[in-house]
Parts: sequence; structure tokens; C-alpha cells
Amino acid sequence: MDPIKNPFTPGAGCPPHQLVGRETVLEEARILLGRTLRRKPEKSMLLTGLRGVGKTVLLNAIEHEAEAQGYKTISFEVTENQTLGLKLIPALRNLFFELDRLAGNKDKIKRGLMILRNFIGSLKLNYGEFGVELDPLPGIADTGNPEIDLPDLFLAVAEAARAKETGVALLIDEIQLLSNEELGGLIMAMHKLQQKQAPFVLIAAGLPTLPRLAGDAKSYAERLFSYPIIGTLNQDECNKALQTPAAMEHADFSPEALTAIFAHSHGYPYFLQEWGYQVWKVANTPYMTEIDVSDAHKQVQDRLDTNFFRVRYDRLTDAEKRFMHAMATCPEPCKSSDIAEQLGIKPTAITPTRASLIPPTLFPSQRPAKRPALTASA
Ligand SMILES: Nc1ncnc2c1ncn2[C@@H]1O[C@H](COP(=O)(O)OP(=O)(O)O)[C@@H](O)[C@H]1O
Ligand SMILES: [Mg+2]
Repeated sequence: MDPIKNPFTPGAGCPPHQLVGRETVLEEARILLGRTLRRKPEKSMLLTGLRGVGKTVLLNAIEHEAEAQGYKTISFEVTENQTLGLKLIPALRNLFFELDRLAGNKDKIKRGLMILRNFIGSLKLNYGEFGVELDPLPGIADTGNPEIDLPDLFLAVAEAARAKETGVALLIDEIQLLSNEELGGLIMAMHKLQQKQAPFVLIAAGLPTLPRLAGDAKSYAERLFSYPIIGTLNQDECNKALQTPAAMEHADFSPEALTAIFAHSHGYPYFLQEWGYQVWKVANTPYMTEIDVSDAHKQVQDRLDTNFFRVRYDRLTDAEKRFMHAMATCPEPCKSSDIAEQLGIKPTAITPTRASLIPPTLFPSQRPAKRPALTASA
């Protein structure tokens, strides 16, 4: 069918026509934002899930909700080659200028900019002049240690926002890429802000390793954040995610086609968008059937191989690749000892490879005393 009208959206961060199955998390976020603005205590939120389940698009939807509630938002994605400071500085600078334009007292804005200048100085960076007369304010956010500086900096941001009768929502994607120190600083900052009932909320998204990383950085993180798990969609949700966008273009799927796509995609949002996209492409009529699904099979597999799996596969070590090949051909339930046998090595010799491929995802206090046997679905 007409590729221009194709309503499916496979791709990192591509907003789907219908954000299906995320109503509960969106409602939790709405409550968190509303309560924080009214100085009522609430846990900040760290969304966790595998790649392609829809964390980024959900984070963007939450940002819209924050804006609708009157928040000023800062959002960015952590990358491997830039520190948290480098991401925060331009965003906070813009935020202070934006707050400055609102009616009300300017003292807290000036103070905030001064503290931001200290923070910049501590990182030995130069961001030029702020264009505002600033008195020196030594001893605040100027040590270069995120655990000391971020709480002071964020408190200054929150006070400036409060002076202008608004709140700040900080949205961070790929937060698992922060260093242990940066994550520790962020957690300490949120701890301090919560105690002061400051109008500042953190909503972030990361891989399932995030609770463990946060717990390792600061053990009290477990009590400070909620960790909604973003997972796959069930058959009904999957049908809705396929049928609603199709209906907007006066198209539909047969019940058999829906069942087949669910079986192939396991309700995994990225995969079902790719299925929808390719089935649309091969179909000749607006009623897409099981035959179209099987005709699209090869294209879907090729696209997933090149766009989704390749980038991850290429980053694996040779030992990790061997482990994954053995696991893929191992009959279920597949135990570590089966993989070791296939590879012709002792089970203890594959433990480090297994650990690097499947890092533990729970808080230390929630980890089982003994590791459960590895299964192919682990
Ligand atoms: N709730 C949803 N319903 C339908 N499609 C979704 C949903 N969430 C995400 N998607 C689709 O899944 C893909 C991956 O989304 P993305 O937010 O990039 O995932 P992640 O950030 O978890 O890797 C995108 O193509 C997006 O359109
Ligand atoms: Mg993402």
C-alpha cells in the first residue's frame, strides 16, 4: 500500500500513533508531578526496561504532561562521550534565563546563575559571560565533586523556580550511562530536594541494570525512587497498537494477521512497529491478512538484523558472541552447564561472560541468595 501513508513508526524514539498500554505509568507520573508542585512528598521515577520497549517515547510523553502542568523542563540523553556536567550546564543556563523572563523576584535567579558559574568553574570550563551582573559566591557547588556540587546546584535551581511560582522537571534518558559518581551526586541531590519539599522532580529512563547501579551508588536510592518496569504489550494492547493507526488510514488487519504478528513480535513494541510497517508495505489491499504477514517475514527479519541487532552484536567480544551462538542453538530450558558443554569448557569458565551479557538487575537487598538456573528466556 501507499508507503507515504504508512502509519507505523519503527525507530529509536519515534513516537507511535498510539502510546498503548502505558496508562498506569502515565497516571503515576501525572500524580508525581502534581504532588511535587504542591510540596507533597513523592518518589521520583526511574523507568526501566530493555531496548525498544518504549522508554524514550514514554519519557517524551511525560515531558508533555509536565509542561501541561506548568513545569519548566530540562531534558537530555546521557551519552558515553559527555559528562553529566556538560549536559546540564547549557540546559540550566537556558532555564535560568527562561525563569528570569517570568514576573517576580529576580534575586534567586541571580543567585542560581552565580552558583551555576561556580559549577562551571569547578569543571574548568568556559561558557562566556552570562550578561548579568553577578556577585561572587564562593564555597557553593565549586568543588568539582558531583556528590557535593549537584545538591547545591539543584537546590538553587529549585529555589529560583519556586520564586517564580513554578517547578522544574528534569528528564534524563539512558541514565545508566552516568558514572557511579555522577549517579551518586544525582541521587544525593534528589534526596536533599525531597527533604526541602522543593518543586523539582527527576524522571529518568534506563536499562534494567539501573536499580542495581543506583543501589550501588547510594544504598538509600531504593527508597527514594519508584522503578516502573516498562515491558512488552499483551495481545489486546498489541492489536490496538496495530489497528488504531491503520484505521486512521482506513485500513485494518484480519484477526489471524493480528495473532500472527503478536506471536512473531511477542508484543515487543519496536518489533510490532516493524511488523506493522513491513506488512503495510507488502499488502495490496487495505485489509491486511495472514498472507501479507508471511510475505513480510523476510523484510522484517532483515530490518531487525541490520537496524536493531547488528549494532549490539558488533559490540560483543568474541567470547560473548560464542556464548550467544551456543545459547541460540541450545534446547530449552538451557542451563549454563549446557552452554559450557557445547563450548567444551568448564561451567565456571563461562561465568564472567554470562555475567557481562546478563548483568544482575536487582537491588542488592532483593537479589536471591543463590542465582537461579539460566534459561534461554533469562
Ligand atoms: N506503547 C507503545 N505502543 C506502540 N508502539 C510503541 C510503544 N512504545 C514504543 N513504541 C515503538 O517502539 C519503538 C521503540 O521505542 P523507544 O522509545 O525508542 O524504545 P526504548 O527507548 O525503550 O529503546 C518505537 O518505534 C516506538 O514507536
Ligand atoms: Mg530509548
